[in-house]
Amino acid sequence: MPHHSAFINKHAILEKSPTLLFIFSFLVVTVGGIVEIAPLFWLENTIEEVEGVRPYSPLELKGRDIYVREGCYVCHSQMIRPMRDEVERYGHYSLAAESMYDHPFQWGSKRTGPDLARVGGRYSDAWHVDHLVDPQSVVPESVMPKYGFLLDTPLEFARVEDLMRTHAMVGVPYTDEMLENAQSDLLAQADPNRDYDGMLERYPGAAVSNFDSQPGVSEMDALIAYLQVLGTMVDFSTFTVDESR
Ligand code: HEC
Repeated sequence: MPHHSAFINKHAILEKSPTLLFIFSFLVVTVGGIVEIAPLFWLENTIEEVEGVRPYSPLELKGRDIYVREGCYVCHSQMIRPMRDEVERYGHYSLAAESMYDHPFQWGSKRTGPDLARVGGRYSDAWHVDHLVDPQSVVPESVMPKYGFLLDTPLEFARVEDLMRTHAMVGVPYTDEMLENAQSDLLAQADPNRDYDGMLERYPGAAVSNFDSQPGVSEMDALIAYLQVLGTMVDFSTFTVDESR
């Protein structure tokens, strides 16, 4: 017999004694657990900071609430995995930092429809309106429900500042200036005729548009503002992975 078989046979001792098997399994799980968990107590931050990632603007944040309320996550994920088929279809794989201000995150696990992590900027606002009102009018085989009522539902935003304060409580760095301007920034983003310079300074890259082409701010405006920012905060033409970490 080869010499190592004697050592391997010792395993039989463990397998035949439930008590010993339990004790040794416990030791293995404990060591494994400590190795995985302990570093998290000393690491200040497990998310690599990435340039460009900013808190959602008030309008985007309200849109995100509608996304959650309507259960869009039931059919759509927001997490591009680092595999070739995904990256070729959806774009650069998702970075942890891209959802660092998402409470709760919208990664999802079900893809009845496509991943939406980088849908921002892929379609025009008008396309989104048509698609949300009647998905089958643009994609005949679509099983997505109709959301036309969002167009007729005025956005309720009297308490958007409170909403932002709530997010600030869980770590989103909304400044006093952002909180003070919450309502006017929301209105400015949905109306290109207003003065939106301050809003853009606070939320660089935010899309300014009358998203639904109707007077007033509807829930449709907010939802599309949110869809249009998804995956657009990081500039992947200049982004490089920090290999030193
Ligand atoms: C019952 C499942 C289902 C639900 C719920 C659903 N969708 Fe979809 N969605 C789909 C399917 C299937 C497609 C692909 C066909 C199409 O474009 O309509 C899709 C496509 C999309 C697209 C186009 C994506 C692309 O890359 O072409 C967007 C944007 C979208 N959905 C947004 C939403 C939003 C916002 C909500 C919530 C208000 C929502 N969906 C709810 C199933 C769903």
